[in-house]
Amino acid sequence: MAPKNPKQVPYGAYHKTRMPAYDPELTETGPGTPMGEYMRRFWQPVCLSEELTDVPKAIRIMGEDLVAFRDRSGNIGVLQRHCSHRGTSLEYGIIQPKGIRCCYHGWVYDIDGTILEMPAEPKDSRIYETVYHGAYPAFERSGLVFAYMGPPEEKPEFPEYDFLHFPVNNRLVACSNVYPCNWLQTYENTMDHIHAALLHNNMTVESVDQAIKSGLTFSDAFTSGMPILDWERTRNGHGMCFIAGRRVNDDVIWVRHSELVFPNATHVGSLFSSAHEARHTTVCMTRWHVPVDDENMIIFGWRHFNEVIDRYGDGREEDCGVDKIDFLDGQSVRPYDVGQRAPGDYEALAGQRAIAVHALENPVSSDAGVFMCRRLLHELVRGEAGPDTSRPVNEDQGQTLHSFGQDSTLRMPLHPDLEADEQAIREMERKVYAIMADADAVDSADRMAFILARLDELDGGMLDAAE
Ligand code: FES
Ligand SMILES: [Fe+2]
Repeated sequence: MAPKNPKQVPYGAYHKTRMPAYDPELTETGPGTPMGEYMRRFWQPVCLSEELTDVPKAIRIMGEDLVAFRDRSGNIGVLQRHCSHRGTSLEYGIIQPKGIRCCYHGWVYDIDGTILEMPAEPKDSRIYETVYHGAYPAFERSGLVFAYMGPPEEKPEFPEYDFLHFPVNNRLVACSNVYPCNWLQTYENTMDHIHAALLHNNMTVESVDQAIKSGLTFSDAFTSGMPILDWERTRNGHGMCFIAGRRVNDDVIWVRHSELVFPNATHVGSLFSSAHEARHTTVCMTRWHVPVDDENMIIFGWRHFNEVIDRYGDGREEDCGVDKIDFLDGQSVRPYDVGQRAPGDYEALAGQRAIAVHALENPVSSDAGVFMCRRLLHELVRGEAGPDTSRPVNEDQGQTLHSFGQDSTLRMPLHPDLEADEQAIREMERKVYAIMADADAVDSADRMAFILARLDELDGGMLDAAE
């Protein structure tokens, strides 16, 4: 008989003390790294507008030390942090009517890195023509500051999505969450949707009621059992979504998609509207998972507030901001004992080590989405993926990008055979995904009506009649 693998026996820790390497291709994002170079080809949020005050804000993004500020004319600057003269940090700089002044010898830099003043130098100094301070293009939108840190000649347009404008009067509220771990851990967690029914269920408290009250879970619809999961590529492999089906009651199922748009954006379906009544809703959060360095990251994004998402008034705008968001406890650091007794995403993800070691994992079927995410990212970083097939934006013609993030409920009577019921839910999930894929080709103005009509075709438009 072959000897047992010494690592796979009881009391085998002695044989498991060697630490394999983490995956550098996906986790390292400093200048010149494969993932860092790929990520630098996209606009990235770097801080919240509210963090730009009368003093500069020191920031670190993808391993680069920077300073962000709003000059007194209202222009946003994102500059390399250390002065081009003799290296003093511009976080101690003095904000000017135009640009920022280094505190040490008074050099003034404009937001594009042009040297505007050198008080101790003659006016005709050649330095004005030969030295530029390192600067990145930046702009503000709805409370977030975005910077582009890639090669200037490859700077893309900002991705204009439909959900930024839908429904009418949608309010985008900027927020952040700071995590002491690699960016990939929080990012791929979105595809680990099974954890919503476990980590965010009532494992650590005694009742669902108590879990809802304590902010540990979203709503009863999330706690009603394990979701039936599937995953699908979007945008020709430049994105992916999970497709989660749940039975809400004997008549109704709920199909949910959240989408990753690579390299690091997420469009998360509604957390707040009742699964019993949401016929079709778009995303409730748009977020970017931004590396600070390889062992720290910040999720920046917008919580969407509107009459659909917050129909029941569960959302709390005042609880969204710097390192806080208004859903679930455990999205940011809390006292250690609180985190131990009621762990949330913060504890689960930071707890995977500063940089998770994939070679030590034992993946199971519900991890398929996480592994698909890693595989697609590898393809993109290596330049092996085909072109992004998202519908092109043409704002003049009212065409925006579309998201696959959504929640829909459908009438589907319970099959008495539970295995057959599960199979039927799986088939319905695929049909809802197909509607979203077809809808990507529909004009933005007609898209919602198209989706609702196709959902009506799927369940005979019976949902309203059933209520
Ligand atoms: S170090 Fe900044 S002006 Fe001299
Ligand atoms: Fe979570």
